Amino acid sequence: MRNNYINIFLEQPRRGKTREAQLTPHKAIAVVWGVAHMRNAAWGAMPIILFLALIATSCRDRIDPPTPYNLQIPKGFPTVLNIPADNPMTVEGVELGRLLFHDPHLCGYTGTEPDSLMSCSTCHRQECNFDIGIDNPRFPDGKPKGRTTGKPTMHNVMPLMNLVFNHEGYCWNGLVYSDNPNSEQRTIEDIVRMAITADDEMCGTEATAVAAIMADSKYPPLFKKAFGTEEITMDRIQKAIAQYVRSLIAGNSKFDRYLQGKEQLTPQELHGYVLFTTEEGADCFHCHGSAGSPLFTTNLFYNNGLDAQPTDTYDRSSVTGDPHDRGAYRAPSLRNVTKSAPYMHDGRFQTLDEVLNFYNAEVQNSPYISPLMHHVNDGGTHLTPNEMADLKAFLGTLTDDTTIR
Ligand code: HEC
Ligand code: HEC
Repeated sequence: MRNNYINIFLEQPRRGKTREAQLTPHKAIAVVWGVAHMRNAAWGAMPIILFLALIATSCRDRIDPPTPYNLQIPKGFPTVLNIPADNPMTVEGVELGRLLFHDPHLCGYTGTEPDSLMSCSTCHRQECNFDIGIDNPRFPDGKPKGRTTGKPTMHNVMPLMNLVFNHEGYCWNGLVYSDNPNSEQRTIEDIVRMAITADDEMCGTEATAVAAIMADSKYPPLFKKAFGTEEITMDRIQKAIAQYVRSLIAGNSKFDRYLQGKEQLTPQELHGYVLFTTEEGADCFHCHGSAGSPLFTTNLFYNNGLDAQPTDTYDRSSVTGDPHDRGAYRAPSLRNVTKSAPYMHDGRFQTLDEVLNFYNAEVQNSPYISPLMHHVNDGGTHLTPNEMADLKAFLGTLTDDTTIR
């Protein structure tokens, strides 16, 4: 909506001139009222007064357009963002999305029985880097299941940070990507719908989700602020939640502050960083980034040698059709990695120590292993216990406490 002002032509009787002025609805009425009195024709002006009062009321009902969201891109991060043209981020949209993301009725259940409720944050917990966590009250084993079906999810939960910078495809196998021929699997908006309706996740339907959100009187005004009218639709729910997910950015860790010269790393952390970024050291940087690729992932897909015989049929090869992609998955970002347990596509490791032991001595060779796993012939990098501790200390510097609450 434009603004709350009315342009009227003010008659100035003394000078006999007419000029245009901007008045608030209240002032406009007062002026007309005054003019009417001056002319001693109050009753004659009554229709005009009522007409203006009507405009004033309708103007007050309209609202300002939503405020563009100022996404803070951390220093050195990519500036090309994955935001669909039909869903620009707004302050009001992100805020609505935040509420919906955490709303346990989004699954379509309007009762109060705790086990029948489920929100996005049942599995994507902010304090766990929007991952499931190994101490999840609903899924103590870290293995999520469908709300009403009890059906286990195909894979471990993924953290939801810095997704707006990913152009390579979402989900472990990259099933959701922007030029997917399947137009229902292209965007985070699509993932919202998939999560609400999947029988291994929220087990809702579009109709029950919309009805459950409609039943909460706090929402219509918030939809109006975000989208212009109070109408609640699945499309708007998807858009708002996707906006919120895109607003989740981790880029203010101790390591970032070190790069900006604001904080020092300890000698141990610094040595861990050197190991991380050298081939003869821990050799992690090819797939998980470094100072030069600050997402701490390439967002690309690799087989990192977890299994000699990959068995999961929903791996990268299920998307590309390429048998070389057996056992390949997207390399997760290592930002906030201390918080995102359990680890790997199947959540097989509960702790970071287990992950580091794997890369150190348990790497499995196979025809599918990434050529970037340079130490595969030795089964791993074989760091000393001290070096392992240094590497772990460095990984700890990638935690952005401002995003974990
Ligand atoms: C029952 C647990 C569960 C719930 C509830 C859930 N998710 Fe997920 N989510 C997962 C799992 C598991 C994956 C990994 C899927 C895969 O790759 O197989 C995932 C992946 C994602 C991804 C992809 C992340 C990436 O980096 O590629 C996004 C985005 C996402 N979820 C958003 C949501 C939103 C939004 C909601 C609520 C509408 C939601 N999820 C509800 C379990 C859940
Ligand atoms: C060849 C590429 C590659 C190299 C080199 C590599 N990784 Fe990975 N990393 C991956 C992939 C791919 C995954 C996901 C694999 C899966 O889930 O099956 C992964 C997963 C992880 C995870 C689990 C993250 C999560 O949220 O589940 C951690 C932690 C990790 N890597 C740390 C490291 C460290 C530390 C090094 C160096 C010692 C390293 N990686 C070397 C590709 C690589």
